[in-house]
Amino acid sequence: MSVHKNIRKVTTHVLFEMKLRGEKISMLTAYDYSMAKIIDQAGIDVILVGDSASNVMAGHETTIPITLEEMIYHASSVVRAVDRALVVVDLPFGSYQGNSKLALSAAIRIMKETGAHAVKLEGGAEIKESVERILSAGIPVLGHLGLTPQSIHKFGTYVVRAKDEEEAQKLIEDAHLLEDVGCFGLVLEKIPAKLAGTVAKELKIPIIGIGAGHNVDGQVLVIHDMLGITQEFSPRFLRRYHNLSEEIKGAVINYIKDVKDVSFPNEHEQY
Ligand code: KIV
Repeated sequence: MSVHKNIRKVTTHVLFEMKLRGEKISMLTAYDYSMAKIIDQAGIDVILVGDSASNVMAGHETTIPITLEEMIYHASSVVRAVDRALVVVDLPFGSYQGNSKLALSAAIRIMKETGAHAVKLEGGAEIKESVERILSAGIPVLGHLGLTPQSIHKFGTYVVRAKDEEEAQKLIEDAHLLEDVGCFGLVLEKIPAKLAGTVAKELKIPIIGIGAGHNVDGQVLVIHDMLGITQEFSPRFLRRYHNLSEEIKGAVINYIKDVKDVSFPNEHEQY
């Protein structure tokens, strides 16, 4: 029987159970109340308040500029809309790297001020102390390995990561380390499908992929990309389920026409 269909509230334990039963986990991003309400009602398992808000909401080129205050604003809007999904919030760049005390205080602010259920951090061994300190406060942590966009200036490009043996080996070691310290799951971004499948097989915690093939325990996409609101971003892994930017433009063009030729409002649309 489907775990997904019979659950009133998704918790980290539900995600473990889904992995155990081989039921895939669905995850999408959201950054505001209205969108979060729609995708929660549609039955999404996990909502990620991603720092991709920096790109799709604020128009920055990278995820680096978004602040903790901005993430708290987005996350609290999302949490107010959600009844069922597990809500995970990205810790923004600069709030956890190299300083575990700062990391704990950022994670506590997110949990206290937004009501979210978990936080996500990018990286492996380099951020172990921060992950451990956050976990010690009882805050669930989702890891993120592979293409980690907060390190874009180290990588230099958004190409597929861990194609060579050395980087693949480090990723496997980091994945085990994050499981051993107590992360409840792991996002693997833009890595070879075979490698992602190996990690999903070796680890007990759920592995959520984006551009990591289907041999993992679930999938995540940025909602603006899968709905076709963003147009310029077209990686191979992205499946578009809609062309919303064209639909919105069409509706706005009709509205402008109706206003100009005074066919809106008509006598039934006034008092
Ligand atoms: O910020 C984000 O949207 C993410 C996903 C791409 C996994 O981290």
